[in-house]
Amino acid sequence: MSDGPRLWGGRFTGGPAEAFDRLNASLAVDARMWAQDIVGSRAHARMLVTSGVLSAEDGRAILEGLARVETEFRDGTFVAQDSDEDIHTAVERRLTELVGDAGRRLHTGRSRNDQVATDVLLYLRDAVDRQGAAIGALAHVLLDQAERHVDTLLPGYTHLQRAQPVRLAHHLGAYVQMLIRDHRRFGRVSDDSLAESPLGAGALAGVGFTIDRDQTAVDLGFARPTANSLDSVATRDALADYLHAAATLCVHVSRLGEELVLWASEEVGFVELSDAFTSGSSMLPQKKNPDAAELARAKVSRVVADYVGLQGLLAKLPLAYNKDLQEDKHFLFDAVDTLDVLLPALTGMLGEARFCTERMAAACQDGYMAATDLADHLVRAGWPFRRAHEAVGQLVRACLARGVGLADANAAEIATAGLADIALPQLSAEASAEAKISFGGTSRARVREQLIAARAEVARW
Ligand code: ARG
Repeated sequence: MSDGPRLWGGRFTGGPAEAFDRLNASLAVDARMWAQDIVGSRAHARMLVTSGVLSAEDGRAILEGLARVETEFRDGTFVAQDSDEDIHTAVERRLTELVGDAGRRLHTGRSRNDQVATDVLLYLRDAVDRQGAAIGALAHVLLDQAERHVDTLLPGYTHLQRAQPVRLAHHLGAYVQMLIRDHRRFGRVSDDSLAESPLGAGALAGVGFTIDRDQTAVDLGFARPTANSLDSVATRDALADYLHAAATLCVHVSRLGEELVLWASEEVGFVELSDAFTSGSSMLPQKKNPDAAELARAKVSRVVADYVGLQGLLAKLPLAYNKDLQEDKHFLFDAVDTLDVLLPALTGMLGEARFCTERMAAACQDGYMAATDLADHLVRAGWPFRRAHEAVGQLVRACLARGVGLADANAAEIATAGLADIALPQLSAEASAEAKISFGGTSRARVREQLIAARAEVARW
């Protein structure tokens, strides 16, 4: 049995078995919420005083004691004990050592169930704010690169087959749009999912004192208190909403990572990643590996697993609090840590990436990417699109057979395709891109207006 009095010790004749303690204790995981626990405790103590539940004197002692506990955590002098099951226990135990009975009064009208639900939301709020800013930094770097490459053309792909030329600015701009939606999702987490304070729900049924839940809600920066005490201690929806937003962000980042890995290959050669964001091989002296891009591709697996893990944990739990909920933080913290590390690295890597515009231009010399432009030209001359598609398809087939591009079709091939009477246009990648004047398209003017709008949006964050 392990030593030390327990918060709940009164009902028990003996202490917990060590094996149980090792299973049950969560301090190693939740210690990182010490600041949130102190902030929440302060708000609760202040409210107990204004509500007349605690004397002003006890309130003062608690606040002074909490300030000292805070200093110990900040200085790294806080000493945890074996009997500290979790961060909530640890803070209260130390507070009581410092200020005596006033410390023992802090838990009046409060349970660890509403306490932990509150702390984790406060923790998540900081993480969402920080990561929202990190998404912004990534979007700015992508926009910087995009603005440098409005005139750079590369093949756009479908099915990973060359399809039509696009501007590199347009390609990078696609990821900016994903990040704009990601940022919106993170914003919904902080504005909606994190709007309500569970503090004051008690263990499950509410509390038997005249407490003021509006006061603690406002004090802690929430819009209002939660409406149902059972739901307050049982739900982890805000965590699930965050993990969902994080997982979607990671899917986007993973696709970007995969493109950079492909582009950095010698086969494609569209990008050169800087030494600072690549690594070498322990055996192969010539290697420069795109590790940062690979890890950007990989992390989605963990974060999606965190999302699925949390939802799996919550499903089938009866109301209200269950100890299962203690495991929520493994998933949350793993995802938070993953994004905290990933986003700055990806931003740094992209800022230093050098796009190989000559290789991209060479890839645009592919002779067939203008096929649709040729069909469009016939349509403008009055042809139905379906007939134009058929005729250009025949011309492509003839050119392929002779191993030349569309621009080098000879008179016989043009005649066989039924195009003898048509004045054929100049087929260049630049002309092809410039022709895409529809809103959101890859013409220079459309790309520029897209970047301006995206920059303005990101600058507002
Ligand atoms: N460490 C717990 C958690 O993270 C705190 C709540 C404990 N509540 C209880 N009734 N045992 O969920």
